[in-house]
Amino acid sequence: LAKVEIDLSKIPEGKNVTIKWRGKPVFIRHRTPSEIAEASSVKLNELRDPQSDADRVKKPEWLVMIGVCTHLGCVPIGESGDYGGWYCPCHGSHYDISGRIRKGPAPQNLEVPAYDFEDDQKLIVG
Ligand code: FES
Repeated sequence: LAKVEIDLSKIPEGKNVTIKWRGKPVFIRHRTPSEIAEASSVKLNELRDPQSDADRVKKPEWLVMIGVCTHLGCVPIGESGDYGGWYCPCHGSHYDISGRIRKGPAPQNLEVPAYDFEDDQKLIVG
């Protein structure tokens, strides 16, 4: 399937959902206001792969990323790690609540796929 449609009304605030897109996991997180505030407060000079949170999302409450560690391709675990985001258990990479690499061997942030919001409740990945 080239595109996948997701009903966002089924994902409550503070929850992660993983879908499959082109054989890869895609993480969708409905971020809380405090997570959004935290993600946007990080200074770019603290980041290995400097990217503002605003450049990684289309709507601050919805974080959409390919769930493949940029080190060697394992699938990170949600709601874990030292930065309140994702943790890759293969070699210990920690990603923050914007999916940015903060600690460990991964060189880059989790990749953001092409996506769009068809309406308030419908996300199209691809
Ligand atoms: Fe994720 Fe190595 S594959 S840390």
